[in-house]
Amino acid sequence: MEEPKIEDDGPLNGELNVDVCVVGTGISGLTTAYLLAKEGKQVAVLDDGEIGGTMTSRTTAHVVNVLDDRYFELERLHGEGGAKIAAASHTAAIDTVERIVNDESIDCEFERLDGYLFVPPGESIECLEDELEACRRAGISEVEWADRAPMEAFDTGRCLRFRNQAQFHPIKYVRGLADAIRRMGGRLHSYTHASKIEGGETARIDTENGSVVTAGAVVVATNTPINDRVVMHTKQGPYITYVIGVRVPKGSIPKALYWDTPDPYHYVRLTNAPNAPDSEILIVGGEDHKTGQADDTDERFVRLEEWTRERFPSVGEVAYRWSGQVMEPVDGMGYIGRNPWDEDNVYIATGDSGNGMTHGTIAGVLITDLFMGRENEWEKLYDPNRTPLRDVTEFVKENVNVAAQYTDLVTGGDVDSPDEIPVGEGAVMRDGLTKLAVYRDETGSVRKMSAVCPHLGCIVKWNTTEKSWDCPCHGSRFDRFGKVFQGPANSDLPAAD
Ligand SMILES: Cc1cc2nc3c(=O)[nH]c(=O)nc-3n(C[C@H](O)[C@H](O)[C@H](O)COP(=O)(O)OP(=O)(O)OC[C@H]3O[C@@H](n4cnc5c(N)ncnc54)[C@H](O)[C@@H]3O)c2cc1C
Ligand code: FES
Repeated sequence: MEEPKIEDDGPLNGELNVDVCVVGTGISGLTTAYLLAKEGKQVAVLDDGEIGGTMTSRTTAHVVNVLDDRYFELERLHGEGGAKIAAASHTAAIDTVERIVNDESIDCEFERLDGYLFVPPGESIECLEDELEACRRAGISEVEWADRAPMEAFDTGRCLRFRNQAQFHPIKYVRGLADAIRRMGGRLHSYTHASKIEGGETARIDTENGSVVTAGAVVVATNTPINDRVVMHTKQGPYITYVIGVRVPKGSIPKALYWDTPDPYHYVRLTNAPNAPDSEILIVGGEDHKTGQADDTDERFVRLEEWTRERFPSVGEVAYRWSGQVMEPVDGMGYIGRNPWDEDNVYIATGDSGNGMTHGTIAGVLITDLFMGRENEWEKLYDPNRTPLRDVTEFVKENVNVAAQYTDLVTGGDVDSPDEIPVGEGAVMRDGLTKLAVYRDETGSVRKMSAVCPHLGCIVKWNTTEKSWDCPCHGSRFDRFGKVFQGPANSDLPAAD
């Protein structure tokens, strides 16, 4: 759903000194810059693409305190106190978004609405009973039983209704943040790739074209940290999630947020259809898998559509299909704060799972408090350096999975020759002791790049939906020509021609 470009100050040329430099203009980076600018700080925000974020431009924008990892699970991993802080911080984030929308008069379709959590047909509702109790212990009072979710043609059975959740148009919201930052004197620089980040009393950010920013602090809000080689990437895993947008007659489905409980789960909401006042778009997501570890994209979209038609028979044609990546922390909570094992004045925000709208807002609030030297009771729960985990199962599972990907270094390729690759597609090919990522463009010309991820050396995989090269180890992603657009890798796949 195309939106006009967000205005900015263009690529950075020369030297700049500010109080805080933020790298990344998704919801995390822009919220942080906005709140710092409100404190009177001089901010500069850099992005190596357009302003507005990579994943933020693909989000389905449920703005909620109903977290992907259930509260009973968060209680098990972080104790009752931890679950309380998780609930309080995500609730506060919804309120913060609403306040910013009002203060800055951002026209972004923000609205409060109910959310419904239900189990798949025939499954026990025990997990809902557990969740209701855990929510109440965590301080979420606006949750209750409903006989069924308001889906006319499909009986979900008893489910939980969460009041006062929210949704908005994510690009319109971050546009509002970006405009407000510039009104307060902040600088936004698109197409400015941060190639090196150093902390210390004066932080320094070197950019690809030789420009330099010096600052009192740097906030790395690149979704997954590009300034951290190993530590943070053992604590989270990258997952691709799929979305369809289906046309429905306006008003035919009650406006609410809908989620089921399997892993992966489905998430559903309604939004206005562009240029069609009589229609709405039902946005349905799910079918997640570990990045670079599945090649059945078409089947996943088919399954999403079947799931949707069974529950919402009034839906029409599929108007949109897309996918994106979320970072899943091994213990259910994101990481916001000082970058572990780094010099002073380097902050990160990552591991936001499918709750990046509230998590990115929490990042803005928490990092602003840390920079201003204010105490914040959320600090310990979100500390990127927190240890130990109460349960290391997920940590071990993620890292064993990563280790297994390195066997790709010695296996054969997807094809033996570029002739086997259709136009507009890519494939990995063995080339002696190494592997090549080979793309055949629309004119039939072949582009060859190294298939070895510049982060820690895994072999990338071709993603047919997004026409990207995805690394199955820690989620680095490169466009069809090998240009990096998602870390932790911070450089392109080298050309092999
Ligand atoms: C399909 C999908 C559905 C989702 N649905 C929901 C939902 O319903 N609710 C919810 O809360 N969350 C949801 N999420 C998660 C949420 O969208 C993300 O967690 C959130 O948008 C991440 O924001 P961010 O600011 O951290 O990162 P991004 O928006 O990815 O921004 C990071 C920015 O950093 C820039 N960058 C990277 N490297 C560099 C560099 N070296 N130099 C300069 N700039 C750089 C990138 O260009 C990018 O613009 C969803 C995600 C996906 C993919
Ligand atoms: S993302 Fe770590 S090796 Fe590729």
